[in-house]
Amino acid sequence: MRLLVTGGAGFIGSHFARKALAESVDHLVVLDALTYAGNLSTMQDIRAQGTVWVQDRIENAEGVAHVLRDHRITHIVNFAAETHNDQSLFNPLAFATTNVVGVQNLLLQARLQGVERIVHISTDEVYGSIAEGSFTEESPLEPNTPYSASKAGGDLVCRAEWKAFQTPVLVTRGGNNYGPYQYPEKLIPFFISRLIDGKKVPLYGDGSQVREWIHVGDHVDGIWTVLARGKPGEAYNIGDHNEQENRVVVQQILQLLGRDESLVKSIPDPRKGAHDARYRMSCEKIQALGWSPIRPFAEELARTVAWYVDNPGWWREIVARERYQDFVRRFYGPSLGDDL
Ligand code: TYD
Repeated sequence: MRLLVTGGAGFIGSHFARKALAESVDHLVVLDALTYAGNLSTMQDIRAQGTVWVQDRIENAEGVAHVLRDHRITHIVNFAAETHNDQSLFNPLAFATTNVVGVQNLLLQARLQGVERIVHISTDEVYGSIAEGSFTEESPLEPNTPYSASKAGGDLVCRAEWKAFQTPVLVTRGGNNYGPYQYPEKLIPFFISRLIDGKKVPLYGDGSQVREWIHVGDHVDGIWTVLARGKPGEAYNIGDHNEQENRVVVQQILQLLGRDESLVKSIPDPRKGAHDARYRMSCEKIQALGWSPIRPFAEELARTVAWYVDNPGWWREIVARERYQDFVRRFYGPSLGDDL
């Protein structure tokens, strides 16, 4: 297998690239635009193992065509995406560009060059929110934020490529990930990094929203399973059935860091009506391929907290950036005030 991993300098993509190296692929190319969320520091170890590194965007037709041709790529796994709901409230066009146009370009170039198999990484958020029960792969896509709408767009572009051209593309829809190297804008690493420094953390509303957390290691194992054994044209949910209310996750992080509840500040919900109350997927389809999650949440959350405590260099360099601080100021300034 001659594999192209797009978005490999980001959180989940870098874990998948490590997995691919462990599985001894014949040739590995990582392509990443190095937007704010992609970091060369995230993939230092991957580059050190002979991986080819290309800085480019998936919406660049010529660039993608060159990489596919020059490296005789047979398989693609696409992680390249804008991923943060809160950022999408400010800058929705960047999300449509990468998550819809970029996916279409990648599939078009893959089709033109006869790539054997493409796995596109989507998200459970394309389904919207579910009060009871679980989403199956057949549930309607009803996204509620510019981020999830753009992911649903990319997801449907994959469907149409399969229907119209039999482009051999498979889609995975994962739950909320956590683990090392997650950019400190998402709930878990944002809160860990602030609590390490004794700063207050902003909990949206009453914190009763439910997310289905899956460790990034289980997620990339699931993606590998779909790459190896999934059926082209199909979508696969990848979840852990590990439902946790945000406020309960925050309690666990406080405990692990020896901080108390006075550091949690409830703020008016910035996502308003677009804040999904609950995600939950059924995963029988991928389980039938032989995959199940094996990493328990409590233990792995403790390890994740320990990783951020032990690797301050990785995240401190990020949170010191002007762009990071500017977003935090603009987004949280009005509600956190002096606690910023
Ligand atoms: P997030 O990590 O942004 O993932 P997603 O929006 O994809 O689920 O948020 C997870 C949950 O945590 C979500 O319900 C929003 C909430 N949240 C907060 O309460 N405070 C925060 O500062 C952030 C970033 C998220």
